Amino acid sequence: MISRVFSPSAAVRWRAAHRLTCSAPPGEEKPRPSMLRHLTSRIKATGPITVSEYMREVLTNPVAGYYVRNNMLGPEGDFITSPEISQMFGELLGVWTVSEWMAAGRPERLQLVELGPGRGSMAADVLRVFHQLRSVVGGASVSLHLVEVSPLLSRLQAENLTGGRSRQADAEDVPVYRRGETTTGLPVSWYRRLEDVPSGFSIFLAHEFFDALPIHKFQRTQRGWREVMVDVDPGNADQLRFVLAPSPTPASGSLLQADERRGHVEVCAEGGVVVQQLAQRIQQDGGAALIADYGHDGTKMDTFRGFKGHRLHDVLSSPGSADLTADVDFSFLRRMAGGGVACLGPVTQATFLKNMGIESRLQVLLKNCGDASTRQQLLASYDMLTSRSKMGERFLFLGLLHRSRLARPAGPAGLKLEKKSAAPLPVGGFTELSFS
Ligand SMILES: C[S@@+](CC[C@H](N)C(=O)[O-])C[C@H]1O[C@@H](n2cnc3c(N)ncnc32)[C@H](O)[C@@H]1O
Repeated sequence: MISRVFSPSAAVRWRAAHRLTCSAPPGEEKPRPSMLRHLTSRIKATGPITVSEYMREVLTNPVAGYYVRNNMLGPEGDFITSPEISQMFGELLGVWTVSEWMAAGRPERLQLVELGPGRGSMAADVLRVFHQLRSVVGGASVSLHLVEVSPLLSRLQAENLTGGRSRQADAEDVPVYRRGETTTGLPVSWYRRLEDVPSGFSIFLAHEFFDALPIHKFQRTQRGWREVMVDVDPGNADQLRFVLAPSPTPASGSLLQADERRGHVEVCAEGGVVVQQLAQRIQQDGGAALIADYGHDGTKMDTFRGFKGHRLHDVLSSPGSADLTADVDFSFLRRMAGGGVACLGPVTQATFLKNMGIESRLQVLLKNCGDASTRQQLLASYDMLTSRSKMGERFLFLGLLHRSRLARPAGPAGLKLEKKSAAPLPVGGFTELSFS
């Protein structure tokens, strides 16, 4: 059965398809003066802000941030994501989760942790797999932990996952701000930050989470690297503009690689910190993390862009009304994970989903569905998720695993590279990329 309505025409407008910023069509949006006013007064008081500060304020300001105020996912929102396109996506991540738990020796307690769960669709699909495989997973004490900054989205997740069986904490500033029980009877808790999730054996999933974290932008100039900043346009007090810092900033002094060859670089320092935390937890408590997003291997330059109503949107226009995003630099994430864990991949989404058996899952769903339009939707969603020209190649999957995991004869599922790849030295059928 298909759990969501899939509209191929809406889904082709997913946001990874576009790379560079462009202006929104004139007259398209209503301005949100509060966020703009907040930013312009701050800049007038203390000077230009970094792109990272700008992105953090615009997306997650507790009062007016884009993620805090909007339900942006789906055909009616600003963009669409793989878990919203087909249940097959989350189900295969569920199979991956169970297989990693089994390979770790079936620990008694299993924490499923999702970073940035959106509408909760992927977690629901993963949990359905857990339920279907209850004869296997049933012996473990399973709990769900959601790291979500948006109160609005957390309510939506609670509705989808618990059917109303959740309760918000009375106090505002507590680590667990909502608790509940899923429709299949598992405890579920909501946190604003990863560091608040209890320690213990965990499988972490992050789909389109890292691309939403703030980036710093740097430009190579004749005087050396300079950080890109956001300033108020001197000719129009309601307009923002990019400027270059006149001298090195703390970020340009610390975040750039000495041998960097590109002329423009984006660095997501916050993403690096999250990966370090994941790596430390996996090293200490066991478990694994799967990071899936659109991105590159340290090769791209200017990927910062805005999205509104499935269209590109000028990143400096009407801040707070549109999504802001940047491609994930997977080479940076691998570097930040360090040598304490094994990093596998990234492999393309097409490779991961095919390795995990999407074709067999599609056949089962096709066999069980009667009407022609549902069949059509299934085939279209399969094509959208796996086709090279759609999401199949633009999205990448990176696995972080406990180092002991690679000693086992059966390597981690899904992260095997394509046969045509020239990548070296398979380890148990898989390629280890960062043991430095
Ligand atoms: C692009 S959406 C992806 C949603 C979902 N994973 C999917 O693929 O449909 C990003 C998600 O991360 C959450 N988010 C963004 N920044 C965050 C932060 N700094 N901390 C926690 N959650 C954040 C958003 O509220 C949203 O749920």
